[in-house]
Amino acid sequence: MFKEIKNNIFYCGLNDCDRKIFDELIPLENGTSYNSYLVKGSEKTAIIDTMYPPFTEQYLNSLDENNIERVDYIIQNHGEQDHSGSIPALLEKYPEAVVLTNSKVANNIKSMLHVPNNRIREVVDGEEVSLGDKTVRFIFAPGVHWPDTMFTFLKEDNVICTCDFLGAHYTFDDVFAVESEELKNSAKRYYAEIMMPFRMMCNRYTKMIKEMNVDMILPSHGPVHARPDYILDLYADWTTDEPKNLVVLPYVSMYESTKEMIDYLAARLEENGIQTFKFDIIRGDLGDLAMSLVDAATVVLGVPMVLAGPHPAMVNIAYLASVLRPKTKFAALLGSYGWGGNLFGLIGEILKPLKLEIVADPLEVKGKPTAFEFDKLDDLAKRISEKHKSINL
Ligand code: FEO
Repeated sequence: MFKEIKNNIFYCGLNDCDRKIFDELIPLENGTSYNSYLVKGSEKTAIIDTMYPPFTEQYLNSLDENNIERVDYIIQNHGEQDHSGSIPALLEKYPEAVVLTNSKVANNIKSMLHVPNNRIREVVDGEEVSLGDKTVRFIFAPGVHWPDTMFTFLKEDNVICTCDFLGAHYTFDDVFAVESEELKNSAKRYYAEIMMPFRMMCNRYTKMIKEMNVDMILPSHGPVHARPDYILDLYADWTTDEPKNLVVLPYVSMYESTKEMIDYLAARLEENGIQTFKFDIIRGDLGDLAMSLVDAATVVLGVPMVLAGPHPAMVNIAYLASVLRPKTKFAALLGSYGWGGNLFGLIGEILKPLKLEIVADPLEVKGKPTAFEFDKLDDLAKRISEKHKSINL
C-alpha cells in the first residue's frame, strides 16, 4: 500500500491479513500490518522502519511501482525483525543509503542481520538530521518495549513515528484509524501482550507524547492516528496504577468440581457489584485473558490437581501472568484434587514477582465441593469485596 499521509510523508507498509498468531503466543483476530513510512524532504529521502522478511519482495516491488529511485536514510526505530528484516535488501537496492539509528539497534542489526558497520550511522538521543525542508529528531524510548526502542519525530509536520508503541495488530484499507470497538479491542490486546510488562514506561511516554500535542501518531503496526487523543487516552487508562472493580477467574476443570467453585464464587462477587471474567484456559483465547488482566483488581486461579501437582495448563497461565506484569493487586487460589499432592506451591512461587496480596488461605477440596467449601467461598467473596472497597473500587 502506498499512500500520502501528510505533506510528502507516505505510508509504504503492508497488511498481513492471513497472520493468525504473533510471537507464536498472541492469537490475532484481525491480522496485522507492518508499517513503513517514506519521507521525501527537499534534499534527502528517508524510510522509517522497513519490513517483515517474508514480505520483502512485495515491499521492494511497491517502492519500484511508486518510482522510489533513491533513499538516503533508513531510520530504524527498533531492531526486531518484523521491522528491521528488510534492511539488507534495502541497502542492496539503494547503495547510497545508510541506516540512522541508536547504538542498541545498531548492535542488534549487526548481529541479527549482519548489516555492515559502514552502512550504519549512530545517532544520539535528541539529535536532529535535516532532509532539507524537513527535520527528523530522534527520541530514545528504552523499555517501550525493547531496550533499543526509539521514536522519530518529524519536526515541521508535527508527526511522531512511535515504533511498536501505540500500535495494534490490525489491517486496513485506508491507513487512518477508524475508531471502533474492534480497533479498541485490537489495540488493547496488543497492549496487554506486548506493552503491559512495561506499563510504567508506557505511562511516562504516553504523557510525553500528549504534552507534545502532535498532529499524528504513526505506529509500526495498525492504523495511523490522525486524532492522537484517541489512542493516548486509551493508553492513559490502561497504564494507570488504579485497577477496575473486576475479578478475573482463570480455571481448568477436569471433573467440573473446580468449575463449580469458580461459578459459585463469580456469582457471589457479581451479587456484590463486582464485575467478573471467567476464563476456561483450555478452550479460551489467551488474548482475552491478557486483555482482562489490563484492568483486573483481583485474580482467582482455579487449579485442579493432575499427576500430584497443579494442572500444567495453569502453570503456563501463572507464568504468563508473571511476565505480563498486570497492575492486579489481590489474588486467591482454589481447586479440587483426586488422590493428593501439592496443589498450590508451584503456582504461588511462579506468581511471587507480582507481589499480589493473597486474600485468604488457598481453598482445596477432595472431589466435589460441599457446604463447607461453599461457606468458604462466601467468605472469600466477602473478603475480595472488602479489599476492593479498601482501594476505593
Ligand atoms: Fe513489531 Fe517489537 O516489533
